[in-house]
Amino acid sequence: MAAPAQYDDFAGVYTESTLSSLHNAYIERPAVLDCIGEVKGLDILDLGCGTIVLGSKLLEAGAASFTGIDASAEMLRIAETRVKPEWKPHVSLVEHDLNKPFHLGEKRYDLVTSSLALHYLASWQLVLKSALAHLKPGGRFVFSAHHPFADWLNHPEVGSYHGGPTLIYEEWKTASGEVINISFYRRSLMMMCKEIADSGWIIERIVEPRPTEESKAIFESARWERVASKPSFIIFALVKAGDN
Ligand SMILES: C[S@@+](CC[C@H](N)C(=O)[O-])C[C@H]1O[C@@H](n2cnc3c(N)ncnc32)[C@H](O)[C@@H]1O
Repeated sequence: MAAPAQYDDFAGVYTESTLSSLHNAYIERPAVLDCIGEVKGLDILDLGCGTIVLGSKLLEAGAASFTGIDASAEMLRIAETRVKPEWKPHVSLVEHDLNKPFHLGEKRYDLVTSSLALHYLASWQLVLKSALAHLKPGGRFVFSAHHPFADWLNHPEVGSYHGGPTLIYEEWKTASGEVINISFYRRSLMMMCKEIADSGWIIERIVEPRPTEESKAIFESARWERVASKPSFIIFALVKAGDN
């Protein structure tokens, strides 16, 4: 089983890295924000909020309220330090393991988001159903995960592409040279779509993001071209079945 709170060990290093890395700052985050669209006045629930790097962008863009859930106490501790005083009355951070269903009282949300957290869960059923239960009519769920082809191509040891979830171990090198040991689950695209449909959601849009044009001038060109030619992440925009 992947340890839910594995980010406790490298919360600070991860936060530094995600703010400027090619994969996070110039591929995944801009594409998630683009897929989310206008957030002014929205009540937002973010699953696996980490140190609210995505959350900060949503609050800066005028979200009415932000509730973040994460299993890592250390990520949430850093998140607290990143909450600006003017956001405080509208921000709530909850420590919770998304392998278990969550209940946040009567409040319902216009938008549920999740950035690169769901691949840490062996099953998506509970989190997808809990997210649906917290949605206002007409709301959306936008989430990103590792691209299923990337995890398969990068890990020949998993064998067949088909099926899953398969636990994968990886070493990440941060921009500052630190090595992070991490584990997460790989599942096929068909399995992702089945879990989504079986939980009462409909896929409105799938995005396979590439690096932004501006990032070309920031990163070494051979690396940029290599990264730009391969899938890294997949983004799903979901609506409740029956709402469309
Ligand atoms: C790659 S980080 C992304 C953080 C954040 N979404 C962002 O915008 O930077 C993944 C996050 O998922 C959280 N996470 C992993 N497994 C979890 C679980 N079972 N329940 C809740 N959060 C989890 C980690 O603690 C970490 O904060």
